[in-house]
Amino acid sequence: MPMKTLWGPMIEAMDRASAAAAPRSVAEVAALMHALTGDALAVTCDPTMTLPWGRYLVHADPAGRYNVQLDVFSSGYEGAIHGHGTWGIFWVLQGALMVRDFELALGTARAQRAALLGAGGAQCFCPPASDWHQVATPAEGPQTVSLHLYGPGFDLDEGVYFAEMTKDGAGPTPYRRGPLGDPARVLPGLRVHAGRGGSA
Ligand SMILES: [Fe+2]
Repeated sequence: MPMKTLWGPMIEAMDRASAAAAPRSVAEVAALMHALTGDALAVTCDPTMTLPWGRYLVHADPAGRYNVQLDVFSSGYEGAIHGHGTWGIFWVLQGALMVRDFELALGTARAQRAALLGAGGAQCFCPPASDWHQVATPAEGPQTVSLHLYGPGFDLDEGVYFAEMTKDGAGPTPYRRGPLGDPARVLPGLRVHAGRGGSA
């Protein structure tokens, strides 16, 4: 079973939305987030299983309008400050994500706000509003698993992280993201929530 089957209704809804218009503002991405949240959260994790951490491709739109990936985190993870350069939405399916947002100020990243998202939580972003952010996971508690939806132009292999510009003039720098994992490694730990729609 391909992983996209688990999120079939969400992908069908995305195809319909993409055929109409791409979101161009935070407000439009937020509207999309609200429309998709029921189907995004229709998949749950088997709490008795520990999934191998990594990034897993759920679906890449053949027309390049969006892609969906599942992120499985290790405990106590702390990522680099980075941006995606396109609009995006993410949902926490299990565990928790600490999300810190930053803005650029005089060559340094200045903290804007922080949020702790538990299971069922979601956030979204859209250029030109700043989307520099950093994510971290708790050292204790359930394993964190999140679903990410990104707009066009987001390279699945390379991202952009923020390097301080005070030392060598370096600014935002491309970096190679970890390789996409084999979905067969996580599929046994995922299922469609009882009582919700879904095509699995
Ligand atoms: Fe991110």
